[in-house]
Amino acid sequence: MDITENLISYMDKNLPTYLQDWYGKVVISNLDIHKDKVIENALHMVGLVKLSLRGQLSPEKIKELAYEVAHQRLEAKINIGEFVYNVNLGRSEIVRFVTGSGISIEQLQPVIENINSLFDEFLYHAVKKYTQLKDAEIQEKTLFIDQSHKERLTILGQMSSSFVHEFRNPLTAVMGFVKLMQQENPGMKYIDIISHELTQLNFRISQFLHASRKGVQEREAEEFALEDLFTDILDFMYPSLVDADVNVVPRIDPTITIRAHKDELKQVLLNLIMNSIDALRQKKQNRRLMIYSKIEAESNVHIMISNNGPAIPPETIKTIFEPFFTTKELGTGIGLFVCKSIIEKHNGTIHCSSTDEITTFTIVLPLYAPTEEEDTSLIKVEKA
Ligand SMILES: Nc1ncnc2c1ncn2[C@@H]1O[C@H](COP(=O)(O)OP(=O)(O)O)[C@@H](O)[C@H]1O
Ligand SMILES: [Mg+2]
Repeated sequence: MDITENLISYMDKNLPTYLQDWYGKVVISNLDIHKDKVIENALHMVGLVKLSLRGQLSPEKIKELAYEVAHQRLEAKINIGEFVYNVNLGRSEIVRFVTGSGISIEQLQPVIENINSLFDEFLYHAVKKYTQLKDAEIQEKTLFIDQSHKERLTILGQMSSSFVHEFRNPLTAVMGFVKLMQQENPGMKYIDIISHELTQLNFRISQFLHASRKGVQEREAEEFALEDLFTDILDFMYPSLVDADVNVVPRIDPTITIRAHKDELKQVLLNLIMNSIDALRQKKQNRRLMIYSKIEAESNVHIMISNNGPAIPPETIKTIFEPFFTTKELGTGIGLFVCKSIIEKHNGTIHCSSTDEITTFTIVLPLYAPTEEEDTSLIKVEKA
């Protein structure tokens, strides 16, 4: 008998001991739904080793087992590290096993090399397949999430376009008449409050419009002083700020003028301030809202809206700009999504940093960024 057959009959005789040793050392989760297949796979692998020693093993056979095992591991939701560990344990056990056969080390050298390359190839195919399958699984999940987001946005779009007709037109009329009443009866009680509430309502309706109609420009870009915009905004927010007992610290450089869609930028800043007020309400005292601006590199304006409310946890911060993400009982989760799309339309960026001391939203905008829409508005101006 040649050494190969010698070795194989030794392996056959001692196989139960080998398997027992190996099984005692492997890591197998109780949750592994293919737990019973583990021994079966090991036996299969030993079969491949024997074929390989006889020189009768085709690469297809290795692949076949590797693919099957990869599928099982994925189905069992077992991480690939654990699997690789078990296979490598099998490899060292089998090497230990054959060295106990009494055959000289010199004669065993090519056998061990053979076993090693078989295990290498098996692992290569198994891990590659596992990764492919896992990637496909992840892609499918992301696709599903994307899809359901898109569907919700479409529904939102349909909702808001009927919203606009059903709500906005009568609202505009009511607002107009309230203005008239205000003019005709300057001292009339409660009329300021009614007017303010109506403007707020109008603002909230526009919000839905923005979330669904990406990129639709209603007005042209204009040049204005940032300080004036903030004066408008803080006037508008004054009742809410007083109600929430928030101390505002505005530090706007009065020399900054920018060219942008004023109403849209106003909406962004209002959103950020409203969010700050909501956050500050969770604090007992010393509620502070800081507004700061500066010019950077002569061409960019940085606008920072900060508050000293509770920190946004790091794992949440990544999702706050996603549509429909909200932690508020009556939140819509579209405020920051709208902010981001408006700022990006202006070729700017918006990001958030948050610690226990301070939460800051930073907007970076080019001072004069001609967007496509603005280009056409420039042409219009020339014609006029
Ligand atoms: N200044 C802030 N401080 C703490 N958390 C904030 C702040 N701004 C936004 N967030 C978080 O981001 C979420 C999303 O905000 P937003 O898109 O405006 O939707 P909504 O205000 O309807 O919840 C909020 O629910 C809140 O958890
Ligand atoms: Mg909000």
